[in-house]
Amino acid sequence: MSESQLWNDVDDYFTALLSPADETLTAALRDSDAAGLPKINVAPNQGKLLQLLARIQGARRILEIGTLGGYSTIWLGRALPADGRLVTFEYDATHAEVARRNLARAGLDRIAEVRVGPALESLPKLAEENPEPFDFVFIDADKVNNPPYVEWALKLTRPGSLIVVDNVVRGGHVADAGSTDPSVRGTRAALELIAAHPRLSGTAIQTVGSKGYDGFALARVLD
Ligand code: SAH
Ligand code: DHB
Ligand code: MG
Repeated sequence: MSESQLWNDVDDYFTALLSPADETLTAALRDSDAAGLPKINVAPNQGKLLQLLARIQGARRILEIGTLGGYSTIWLGRALPADGRLVTFEYDATHAEVARRNLARAGLDRIAEVRVGPALESLPKLAEENPEPFDFVFIDADKVNNPPYVEWALKLTRPGSLIVVDNVVRGGHVADAGSTDPSVRGTRAALELIAAHPRLSGTAIQTVGSKGYDGFALARVLD
């Protein structure tokens, strides 16, 4: 058996047991696929991890950068109380439309707001609204902009907030200081920012599973 087949089998087992799909999640992926969206959503057990982390945070307000069809958004939105708030940024108007339908079907349309446009334009607009600090931020969009996304996350959070950055392994190239790949460079710069920042304490973890070889970084905003 190939290594990746083994990883898939174990993920299938974990997922069926601990993060099984319901009709809403299944429909979200089905409609995302039907609309031609790329299948780059988090895996179900990763979605459940995001939900657990948000719950552990006691999150009432969540910010997401990179909505796609709203699959991770549904996992995160379900961690929130009825008066919670989730703002998610999506560059692509088609993705955002699919996400809005998926969130409405999930009963999250009053909690989760999809804002269309480049996140680096949406973030300053959001900041101008002087929102209450976000308790949890999930960064999962264009990797080249990971450093400014971490900087904005810091501006929009509070001591104790948690920032999660997806897809930090880049097939292992993240360890290559000489890489010219913009996604690798953006990811390295974001990790270096987390490492050097006096108000952040972070780590990064490699993962295997249905999404292949990948990983994520976690950073806590210090008191
Ligand atoms: N979080 C989603 C997956 C997001 S995929 C999930 O796990 O279900 C990354 C998304 O980021 C894509 O939909 C892409 O269109 C969007 N994106 C890329 N660049 C962006 C930008 N500059 N601003 C906002 N969204 C962007
Ligand atoms: C890609 C993006 C993601 O956010 C992800 O989780 C997997 C793949 C991509 O752009 O290929
Ligand atoms: Mg991702």
